Amino acid sequence: MKIAVIGTGYVGLVSGVCFSDFGHEVVCVDKDSRKIEMLEKGKVPIYEPGLDRLMERNVETGRLSFTIDLNAAIDGSEAVFIAVGTPTRRGDGHADLTYVMAAAEEIAKAAKDYVVIVTKSTVPVGTNRKVAEVVRAANPDLDFDVASNPEFLREGAAIDDFMKPDRVVVGVETDRAAAVMASIYRPLYLREFPIITTDLESAEMTKYAANAFLATKITFINEIAALCEKVGADVKQVARGMGLDNRIGNKFLHAGPGYGGSCFPKDTKALARTAQEYASPIQLVETVIKVNEEVKRRMVDKLLDLCDGSFNGKCVAVLGVTFKPNTDDMRDAPALTIVPALVGGGSTVRVCDPQGRREGEALLPSVSWEDDPYAAADGADLVVILTEWNEFRALDLSALAKRMRTPRLGDLRNVYTAEDAQKAGFQAYVSIGRADLIPG
Ligand SMILES: NC(=O)c1ccc[n+]([C@@H]2O[C@H](COP(=O)([O-])OP(=O)(O)OC[C@H]3O[C@@H](n4cnc5c(N)ncnc54)[C@H](O)[C@@H]3O)[C@@H](O)[C@H]2O)c1
Repeated sequence: MKIAVIGTGYVGLVSGVCFSDFGHEVVCVDKDSRKIEMLEKGKVPIYEPGLDRLMERNVETGRLSFTIDLNAAIDGSEAVFIAVGTPTRRGDGHADLTYVMAAAEEIAKAAKDYVVIVTKSTVPVGTNRKVAEVVRAANPDLDFDVASNPEFLREGAAIDDFMKPDRVVVGVETDRAAAVMASIYRPLYLREFPIITTDLESAEMTKYAANAFLATKITFINEIAALCEKVGADVKQVARGMGLDNRIGNKFLHAGPGYGGSCFPKDTKALARTAQEYASPIQLVETVIKVNEEVKRRMVDKLLDLCDGSFNGKCVAVLGVTFKPNTDDMRDAPALTIVPALVGGGSTVRVCDPQGRREGEALLPSVSWEDDPYAAADGADLVVILTEWNEFRALDLSALAKRMRTPRLGDLRNVYTAEDAQKAGFQAYVSIGRADLIPG
């Protein structure tokens, strides 16, 4: 089957590459000509482990290609996936659907024969019906269906998530669209991955409900962590004790500096907004959004405590700025709150991140970049672990401490313990939801 994918970002590119690996003929479209030029040269514009090899393999078979020409991509395609961004709209927290609707109109104008227009972007409930209206208005004679197929992949594990999903959710209205979607996902049906077929609204809601639940789980453990610090409990032990309960599960129970990334912040806001518009506010999610901001600010206070109440004149090494390991994505990363607070307080900041520099340079002006964590710590007064890249999980803490002017460690991912830090010669250590080591 010929498929077109509109948008070659984290979701569109991974989807396009994986669909071609399923055996479909896939044309990926982006209006960003620089991205398409890179892709045509075999270069992947994002960092996603394994994507370059899978892409190369499928380009070689002739099943996968890239273009800025939407008309050529649509021609003969039985399904067109919309995988463009849906960022937070300025001012009101709603998902900005400008890119989705623009793509829908372009598809409508380019399509000649029956096509299923599939929304893979995360969109508020009701959007697929609006997409259908836009398409009908732009091309009243077009024979088409819409389908909602939200994506659940995680950056950093995207290929596995796409190829071996926990489930695929497909919202459709007609048997014809259901048949097209079934044939697209046939390789997954054959391997008995759960494919859930729903109405359009349920598919749209499932994505937001899932993300809001995960954001809530993270925020819950972050609040428990704050209380653990007060009462002398250890949040890691608490989370383990909770997570072994099958009804709870151990995933997303790691206390940290607050959730970030391209999805949770914007999707929780969009869900809260939709709920308000329908006069059915979800107070739990509204609170999660507020608490997550407080969590990030609390991190700044913890680091201030480590630095005797002032960042002024301090030299700080920040290890990790992407919102999580194994991605170069900096969108809404806690680093974007914490690093400016360090710089604003008068610190000199050096950053080390295995993949964050390309995005991070523009977002974090006034910091310098180091490739090596030990070089970043040279003469520093504080090292902060902000993202738990593997590179930072087995540091030689003694070597790190020796290179510092004042050995202090802010471990905002609970990678080490106060005992590890003390043995290595650190004077002071803070982590999340456990006893801190701050002298005097
Ligand atoms: N990133 C994730 O981990 C993830 C996971 C699940 C769902 N999602 C959802 O998927 C959607 C896409 O997210 P992303 O992170 O891939 O976004 P992204 O910003 O990385 O990519 C979007 C791409 O679409 C392109 N684009 C926009 N309008 C276009 C048009 N009219 N024609 C052609 N190209 C166009 C942009 O140039 C860009 O390259 C969002 O709704 C997001 O919420 C993302």
